[in-house]
Amino acid sequence: MQDRQAIKESVRARIDMVDLVGRYVGLRQQGSNFSGLCPFHEEKSPSFTVSQEKGVFHCFGCKAGGDAFEFIMRIEKLDFPQALEFLANQVGIDIPKPGQKDSPQQQLRQLNEQIATYYERVLASPEGQEAVDYLKNRGLDGKTAKKFRIGFAKAGWQNLISQFTTQQEHLKTLGMAVVNQQGRIYDRFRDRIMFPLCDAQGQVVGFAGRQLHPEEGSPKYVNTPVTPLLQKGTLLYGIDLAGPAARESGQLVLMEGYTDVIAAHQNGIHNVVASMGTALTKTQARLCGRFTQRVILAFDQDTAGQLATLRGIQSLLEEGLEVGMIQLEPGHDPDTYIQENGVEKFAALLKNSRSFFEMYIDMLLKQHDVSGFNGKQQVLNDALPFLKGLSNLHWRSHLVSELSAALDLPNEDIVQMLRAPQKALATSDQSPHNENIGHLNQEEQLFYFLIHGHLSFERATSELEMEDFARYGGLWKLLKGCHQQKGSVQLEHLYEFVDDTWKTELSRLSVSENVHADNITRGVEEVLQHFKANRFEKQIRRLETSIREAESVGDGEQAKVLQQQLLDVQRSKKAQ
Ligand code: UTP
Ligand code: MN
Repeated sequence: MQDRQAIKESVRARIDMVDLVGRYVGLRQQGSNFSGLCPFHEEKSPSFTVSQEKGVFHCFGCKAGGDAFEFIMRIEKLDFPQALEFLANQVGIDIPKPGQKDSPQQQLRQLNEQIATYYERVLASPEGQEAVDYLKNRGLDGKTAKKFRIGFAKAGWQNLISQFTTQQEHLKTLGMAVVNQQGRIYDRFRDRIMFPLCDAQGQVVGFAGRQLHPEEGSPKYVNTPVTPLLQKGTLLYGIDLAGPAARESGQLVLMEGYTDVIAAHQNGIHNVVASMGTALTKTQARLCGRFTQRVILAFDQDTAGQLATLRGIQSLLEEGLEVGMIQLEPGHDPDTYIQENGVEKFAALLKNSRSFFEMYIDMLLKQHDVSGFNGKQQVLNDALPFLKGLSNLHWRSHLVSELSAALDLPNEDIVQMLRAPQKALATSDQSPHNENIGHLNQEEQLFYFLIHGHLSFERATSELEMEDFARYGGLWKLLKGCHQQKGSVQLEHLYEFVDDTWKTELSRLSVSENVHADNITRGVEEVLQHFKANRFEKQIRRLETSIREAESVGDGEQAKVLQQQLLDVQRSKKAQ
């Protein structure tokens, strides 16, 4: 059982003074301190100061001052033992009553603490030399190793167990010992570098072990399973050390690996945490939100599964957090990037992080050829599940407008596709579902004219291309097939070529009112004109982008050529 002094110190270590005082006093950051109106005397201008780093408060007006215990004694009007209990409760430390035995939970916590210390000792012993060499070789210094309490589990089946012979049941509960089918108990972690996993208060709640000698069939990292101290998806590696820096900088950097967090710390970047290799959960996102409004993703560049992590990004957005992103060079993670390029470059990347939405759309645009409408539709298909899963309306409409700008499609079209069943969007050969029955947009009008024989298929094919269709590219293709086989695109022939979804669409087109009903000839010309104008506009936009790109890399020659092309297109558009 710990004595009072020890308990007082562990409580003090876990209290965040600004957090604590901030519950009673409105605080504003002022340099490295925080200040506000003193709660202990009447005042109009703030002379009450809190130092987060030192964990003390002081009032320059009434001279009240002291540590967290003093503050709580004064403000809650408690004596010291009561204040200790009050604060211990808040950081999850139980104070044993005299004569009372530790609770099982406390015993487990203490054992975890002892195990961490044991692994640290092994690392420092001659038996840990190879592990130390390995860590040094990776650029890790002793100070950082201590800070993260890195240790070593020797090779062999029962090293830990023989250290804690009387606590085998607890070792099993903590996931540190495993029982095989023959009933024999053995250490879970063998021949591995050990990383204690701490909760936000800095208590050891589990371990991760990295293999020292890669071995076939054995994972790089072994983590403790779910235990009474460690729930799945609740931890952020490094969160116990990231708090003050996250508050100060207003952002938290989310990485993938333990070693990324450690490398960042060693290089002076402290507002970093790791998601521990899985998609971020809601609980983890909430934890981020306790420290900051803005999270920057610094993911490995090798993760093909980058999109898989979007689930985690959703959790952050749902939490109302702003999400930024940086992109490393291929093959890098923050650890290797810092080792190779230096921390200044990494810090610069963080400083220039881009919004997640921007990066995400870029990523989608790279995967499809969006010069044509089919490519655009594919981009939307890819983005839809993400968009639909986003229940935070602010972010949803934000993404819709970004997509609209990037794809050069009206907002409403995207919203409509959002409402449409996913199935209908799976390929461009399937029908879009228009809820706005009775009103035909330009594309629909074109098909109306075609299937009613107002516009000859020959003329349409001479003037239009697949690319010109945003949503009816599939139907256009079907029409072509039908024309080839039947020599016509009349409705009764078309029906043989299409499936049920398109049938509904066709019947809707054929019964819908056409705004040009009173002057069909003019209507046909107008619609064709619209398609042409659209094509010019796309060309213009594409040229504008290329010009910007050429200018940004200082290629004035190329920019000039493109400017001329732009002028030509603008002229043709006008002359139209
Ligand atoms: P990485 O494979 O990127 O490892 O996995 P790393 O963190 O860069 O480690 P080093 O630098 O190679 O030593 C990223 C994270 O995924 C989880 C761990 O949390 C790891 O930090 N992971 C990875 C596992 O849990 N198990 C594994 O077998 C691999
Ligand atoms: Mn990595």
